[in-house]
Amino acid sequence: MSSQTLREARKYEEVYDKMIPPEDRPKFHLSARVGWMNDPNGFSRYKGEYHMFYQYHPYSTMWGPMHWAHAVSDDLLHWKLLPAALAPDEIYDKDGCFSGSALELDDGRQLLMYTGVQKQQQADGTFREVQTQCLAVGDGVDYVKYARNPVLDERDLPEGGSRYDFRDPKMWRNTDGTFSCVIGNRPADGSGQILLYGSSDGFQWSFKRVLAENHNRIGKMWECPDFFELDGKAVILTSPQDMMPQGFEYHNGNGTLCLIGHMDSESGDFVEEANQSIDYGIDFYAPQTILTPDGRRVMIGWMQNWDTSNLRTEIHRWYGQMTIPREIWIQDGRLWQRPIRELESLRGAKAEYKDVAVTDGEVRLPGVTGRCVDLNVTVRPADPDAVYRKFAVRFAQNEEFRTSVSYHPSESVFKIDRKFSGSRRAIIHQRRSKVREQGGEIRLRLILDRFSAEVFINDGEHVVTGTIYTDLAAEGISFCADGGVVMDVECYELEG
Ligand code: FRU
Repeated sequence: MSSQTLREARKYEEVYDKMIPPEDRPKFHLSARVGWMNDPNGFSRYKGEYHMFYQYHPYSTMWGPMHWAHAVSDDLLHWKLLPAALAPDEIYDKDGCFSGSALELDDGRQLLMYTGVQKQQQADGTFREVQTQCLAVGDGVDYVKYARNPVLDERDLPEGGSRYDFRDPKMWRNTDGTFSCVIGNRPADGSGQILLYGSSDGFQWSFKRVLAENHNRIGKMWECPDFFELDGKAVILTSPQDMMPQGFEYHNGNGTLCLIGHMDSESGDFVEEANQSIDYGIDFYAPQTILTPDGRRVMIGWMQNWDTSNLRTEIHRWYGQMTIPREIWIQDGRLWQRPIRELESLRGAKAEYKDVAVTDGEVRLPGVTGRCVDLNVTVRPADPDAVYRKFAVRFAQNEEFRTSVSYHPSESVFKIDRKFSGSRRAIIHQRRSKVREQGGEIRLRLILDRFSAEVFINDGEHVVTGTIYTDLAAEGISFCADGGVVMDVECYELEG
């Protein structure tokens, strides 16, 4: 019973995704089937498989009326594309099916909850987008929008909450079988807040409380919230718009925020203990998490950022990638991340070196090359009494191009620089972050997949992510030191 709008999208993607050669895409990261991709949506398990939907505009590589694309996977690395799941085809979502989530109902159906966007004329004659929460139910491929949509609208907002910024429901099941969700909203102070809603059946929802308030402290509107328990802490992830940098945190304009705290057993309030960026690189936004059957909390983010989405190629018919799925945990009051262990099954040819000395120069190692690699480097000062000034890994490198990450022990600053990654745009190409000071020792794990680099620092205490659109012929990797370092290197080719 699909609409004309959905049928057209399905027909379009069926015809035009075939025109994208597989080697023009990332090998093992999910990328837009055709056209534009943003936020992960409905990241969940259903009937024994992982499902991923995403914000999707099939008809061009620019953001447009939002559909939901759909893919499934057994291992979170190999994705099978399914037909688009939702199209903006009802009055209440005619201007977009915005971000949301999914879960399995007791009767075996899959429930999607998303934000319906509808432009409405206001009393002053202007048009504004009103946002409501809507449902669709399906069998894992085809979905029918709920007859009583929207299920949450302005009447379900706390006083002062804006109906124009009310979006991105993330649902979960509680142990007693009831349903909850968190939704981003803009309160009267113009910043952001996260609202908590509850339901006994997944269809009738009611407002419970404000879970967290921004008070203009970290950015403005808080988009795409997620909320879960992790290692005995209550954790909120959200993507604030319009952030103001604070020290080494929140440099991305539209960035990401992790609040770590606990729930006060008497008041039920979320009590914040720490806050930090989720990713310290250039391209990361709107992550969603799931719990795997073996109990791991796994997070996938949109591997782009609104402020840098001008970094694109003219030739590709797709735009937008997801990050590698990352296992996350809390340690020493911080959020840590590592690539899911399934990634190791993609490891092919290995090159390994121990105790390689690099002094004031650049070194290449046979077998350490390529644009799809899992590269592990452990670095220590050659002389602990005279710590080196800088250590860098350059990759996606040839005469014309290179991207680099570097560590500066005197300030404990880690940098990514993709100025020479083929971009013809004067957008931000660098980020700096402060990492743990360890007397010049640092461990790096770089996951490269043709058009991206994800760098896990010191076993995942910090992560720095960036996309690159460098010519694929640039596949050199080298190690540079200013001063003397000794390093161990382990490099695996990653197969698709
Ligand atoms: C975040 C976001 C969401 C919204 C969606 C629209 O990137 O702005 O808040 O639902 O993108 O595509």
